[in-house]
Amino acid sequence: MTEKPLPDIEFEALLHYIQESRGLDFRGYKRASLRRRITLRMEAVGVETFVAYQEHLEAAPGEFENLLNTVLINVTSFFRDGEAWDVLKNEVVPRLVANSEPDKPIRVWSVGCASGEEPYSIAMLLAEALGTADFCNRVKIYATDLDEEALKVARLATYLPRDVEAVPAKMLERYFERTNNHYVFERELRKCVIFGRHNVVRDAPISRIDLLVCRNLLIYLEVETQGIVLPRLHYALNPDGYLFLGKAETQLARSPLFKVVEMKQRIFTKVSQEWRRPIGGGFGGSRPPRTEAPQSSPAMLEAVLNECGQALLAVDEAGSVIFVNNPARHLLGVGEDDIGRPFQDLPISYRPMELRGPMEEVFRSHRSVRLEDQEYRLTQNDVMRLTIDARPLSRADGSVYAVLLCFLDTTRMHSLQMELEAAQETLENAVEELQSANEELETTNEELQSTNEELETTNEELQSTNEELETLNEEARSSNEEMESVNEELRVQAEQASNYRIYLESVLRSMNGGIIVLDRKLAIQSWNRWSENAWGLRAEEVVGTSFEELDIGLPIHLLRDAMNAVRAGREEKVERIVEGIDRRGRRILCNIVISGLLDEDRGSQGLVLLFQDVTDEHRRDEYGRYLGRIMGHALNEIYFLDPTTLTFMLTNEGAQKKLGYSEQQLAVMTLTDVLAGIRAGDIKALLAPLMNGDKSEIVFETLVRDAANREYPVEICMQYFADEHPPILVAIVHDISERQQLIAGR
Ligand SMILES: C[S@@+](CC[C@H](N)C(=O)[O-])C[C@H]1O[C@@H](n2cnc3c(N)ncnc32)[C@H](O)[C@@H]1O
Repeated sequence: MTEKPLPDIEFEALLHYIQESRGLDFRGYKRASLRRRITLRMEAVGVETFVAYQEHLEAAPGEFENLLNTVLINVTSFFRDGEAWDVLKNEVVPRLVANSEPDKPIRVWSVGCASGEEPYSIAMLLAEALGTADFCNRVKIYATDLDEEALKVARLATYLPRDVEAVPAKMLERYFERTNNHYVFERELRKCVIFGRHNVVRDAPISRIDLLVCRNLLIYLEVETQGIVLPRLHYALNPDGYLFLGKAETQLARSPLFKVVEMKQRIFTKVSQEWRRPIGGGFGGSRPPRTEAPQSSPAMLEAVLNECGQALLAVDEAGSVIFVNNPARHLLGVGEDDIGRPFQDLPISYRPMELRGPMEEVFRSHRSVRLEDQEYRLTQNDVMRLTIDARPLSRADGSVYAVLLCFLDTTRMHSLQMELEAAQETLENAVEELQSANEELETTNEELQSTNEELETTNEELQSTNEELETLNEEARSSNEEMESVNEELRVQAEQASNYRIYLESVLRSMNGGIIVLDRKLAIQSWNRWSENAWGLRAEEVVGTSFEELDIGLPIHLLRDAMNAVRAGREEKVERIVEGIDRRGRRILCNIVISGLLDEDRGSQGLVLLFQDVTDEHRRDEYGRYLGRIMGHALNEIYFLDPTTLTFMLTNEGAQKKLGYSEQQLAVMTLTDVLAGIRAGDIKALLAPLMNGDKSEIVFETLVRDAANREYPVEICMQYFADEHPPILVAIVHDISERQQLIAGR
């Protein structure tokens, strides 16, 4: 037998912590395997001691699930160990179906079902034997496991092609639906498989089971824990139910609770415990009436029996001792006096074991019963082993008249047997260890494989990311180049824009007039130098503020209507003359042109207000008008003549009255038409020095003929304004009749 190593206090404390905090008792699991699995987790999270790992478990709640996944090895497959499943299919399932009553359910329990391959394998076998419809009506498969994660996978019933490799092609076609690269177990059959979390060590077993499959779970448990589980499995089974264990679960084969159906494939059936019930009273009652024993030669027979080397004792059907040979007297302490006494009064009837039950069985069944290897304690230290055969002694008609008890000393055989068993147990332990290590190895291998696959995928992803990055880099480089050239263009444009802005600003600044640009909300965008000078506010102070709210000498409210008309598009342009007070307090008359600020599509972006100081111009106009009025009303005749044709361009009222022509009549007449005695050529010659600029004025006397053909003497003073536009010849005509009369009268 292998010696158990001393418990590691820290490790035990960790198991205790897991049990206390999560209610999961791993203490019944084989220490070596458990330790290896937990160490794997410790390596994964980077801690070195069990104490540190316990702290990690406390701090990181997600770790418990990882631990569970590592400790509970979920290695499984469909029809795992194919040969065993063949026997189940060919030997057990047909018997199961034959023994079951047609209207009774067939109940199966898959203990430690992992990710479901095992219960679904059973489902397929039973569906094949019963037909799908019958299967769905009658079969209930309970599939339980401790690992909730594994159960989730099991419930999904979705497997990869490599998972279903062991499923025969026919079954695969019949019981699986193929969806893109997955196989899903048939829905109707799946409904008969009930998954649930169940701890076989702690939770109450499911009962009345016809087929109990508990494979590759017990190997992870300590022998003591197996001793707790096996009676539960025994209880769960129906009297003629079958137990199907894993290939490596050999030790269990020796359990007295189960008897072998197929040793190699670990198929057992339940040993009924009923005959162990204590039996009271003697035999008889229901047994047939006593008839005479056949005649024999007693002396010879007795001698033979005394020398046969076996202790023999016979009890008749009334329960009385009828025969004891010499070895029996020595061995069992039964004497001559005991012949004829009720067997049940002798100590041998209950020591080394209760013999009345088996004897009753022999009377009833007419068959021998063997009680192997019973301990018989002669004294405190003297123990021997007996194998007791209870054999029927029959009459010619087959009825049993007595039972012969043969006591065989098997002490030596027993000790040999013990040694053999110990050796066998060691071997079996080693096999179990090997199997569980194997499964661990398989898991580790699978984990490694999937890590490898993940790594490969990551690598591929990295490669493609790299390629993408390279492409991106390439694109970035060409974008960069493009951006550089765009940048260059932008820089040139910005430079142009800045020049343009400077140019515009200087144009605006140098404009002899104000320009104010407003946006759509009438906030000031531009305010040139003229505006600064006129209204006493600098551009920095007003740009961005509302034009309407400006506090300046300009009565802005007078422009509101005009601005609104242009903004609303009712007018394209509005001109207003508004009087205001400039920053020096001087009255200023502004001609303001309001027009829209239009974008390229002629959409209005705001307003442009052009200001022109027309104060002086207006004053000049006024003055001109004033002069005109005075000249118009003057008594002298004033003619404005075209210097080329001498046509009357304009005449004052005095001239019109004196000449007796209306303004319209004069407009089609020339100076020569009203001058009497001067021909046109003479006049031109007379005026030549004036027109050449040699003289600034020419004064001469002549006669003027009025509309009534009356002539009167005049002095004409002529001036030529060559710089006027158009150039004009002005004649101021003064009637000198009175002066001449005065001279003539002197
Ligand atoms: C190696 S697998 C065997 C799966 C399947 N029976 C087979 O042979 O293919 C062992 C399973 O037993 C489960 N298990 C371990 N301890 C258990 C317990 N105390 N109660 C129920 N299931 C347990 C594990 O979670 C795991 O899924």
